[in-house]
Amino acid sequence: MMAVGTAVIGSLQFGYNTGVINAPQKTIEAFYNETWYKRYSEYIPSTTLTTLWSVSVAIFSVGGIFGSFSVGLFLNRFGRRNSMLIVNVLAFIAAALMGFSKLAESWEMLIIGRFIVGLYSGLSTGFVPMYVGEIAPTSLRGALGTLHQLGIVIGILIAQVN
Ligand SMILES: *[C@@H]1O[C@H](CO)[C@@H](O)[C@H](O)[C@H]1NC(C)=O
Repeated sequence: MMAVGTAVIGSLQFGYNTGVINAPQKTIEAFYNETWYKRYSEYIPSTTLTTLWSVSVAIFSVGGIFGSFSVGLFLNRFGRRNSMLIVNVLAFIAAALMGFSKLAESWEMLIIGRFIVGLYSGLSTGFVPMYVGEIAPTSLRGALGTLHQLGIVIGILIAQVN
């Protein structure tokens, strides 16, 4: 139970990062606008702002594509459990990039952070259900298999109520 619970934190991360971008749209756009003003001494054109915002949202999925393509590489080289442990490095890097983007006055950091956390999410979407399915006893396999989806939706819920 503890192993499954720990693995499912990966799904929680995926859900959280899926949902978290919606609520702070105004705040992030204001940050882009301010940063643009500091760099170029003019307010950001609204089309550029829309483009940057769209890229910030969508690049998560692009990271997800590359992440899910790389699942096999990790599994063959490091095994299920170690793969899950190793990719946490990506989550930390992404958190640092996104967390310090405001301090560094750089929206590029936020966008790269979103890409990296997308990579992480694509990878753990491959690892978690596989790991959980393999360590669960046969009689509980179905029940525990649903925890991946449950983790995702709880993650989204946490992101929304925040
Ligand atoms: C950027 O900020 C300025 C000043 O707050 C505001 O007048 C302008 O409408 C903003 N630009 C966009 C595209 O939101």
